[in-house]
Amino acid sequence: MVALDERHTPRLTLYRMSANDLDDLTRMHLDPRVMATLGGLRSPEVTRAWLNNHLEHWRIYGYGLWLARERETGIFAGRGGLHRVEIGGREEIEVGYSFLPEFWGRGLAVELARESIRVAFTVLNLPDIVCFTLTTNRASERVMQKAGFRREGEVIYKDLPHVLYRLRRADSEGESETIREAPLP
Ligand SMILES: CC(C)(COP(=O)(O)OP(=O)(O)OC[C@H]1O[C@@H](n2cnc3c(N)ncnc32)[C@H](O)[C@@H]1OP(=O)(O)O)[C@@H](O)C(=O)NCCC(=O)NCCS
Repeated sequence: MVALDERHTPRLTLYRMSANDLDDLTRMHLDPRVMATLGGLRSPEVTRAWLNNHLEHWRIYGYGLWLARERETGIFAGRGGLHRVEIGGREEIEVGYSFLPEFWGRGLAVELARESIRVAFTVLNLPDIVCFTLTTNRASERVMQKAGFRREGEVIYKDLPHVLYRLRRADSEGESETIREAPLP
């Protein structure tokens, strides 16, 4: 699905992850500030395996996580997008997002989440998508709320309590703010 290999938001370019992204992702996975809410640091070997899984996800399903670069500079800023995950005993499609700390607090995670929602509902025609995070990760929960997700409850994921949010296509249709094409800067 070529249309999904590169997407633009007002301030980000989103690229389909590739093997060339290993160094950037390794650096991110060794940053304690980023990984504090993502299960802890990941060694280069673990990141390599993680990346291979996500490349395989793209190959099988035609969508997956993007690598996010700042549009103006091309600098690596973070990663995120849509991927399949089992949570709460169900197969779900999650919107994920993580950024390097120097990019936090500028609304970029919300921007990436909104683009993921747009793709989920207008390209992939998914009926619903979820977002979840540790119950202590207020910044991530706020991103979910700003992107239009609704709180469904708490679930245990990887032995830890998480909040689970969901967005249904039917509910998002009225929320033009969520799926509208964003204007270019
Ligand atoms: C979570 C994360 C992606 C947010 O990225 P970001 O680009 O800073 O997010 P945004 O700027 O789009 O929005 C963050 C919102 O959370 C709010 N926020 C930040 N820290 C907060 C806190 N401790 N408590 C409550 N709200 C908080 C911000 O004020 C902002 O809301 P506002 O626009 O209403 O002021 C980023 O902190 C990150 O990468 N963290 C590490 C990895 C991670 O936890 N990823 C998510 C896993 S589910």
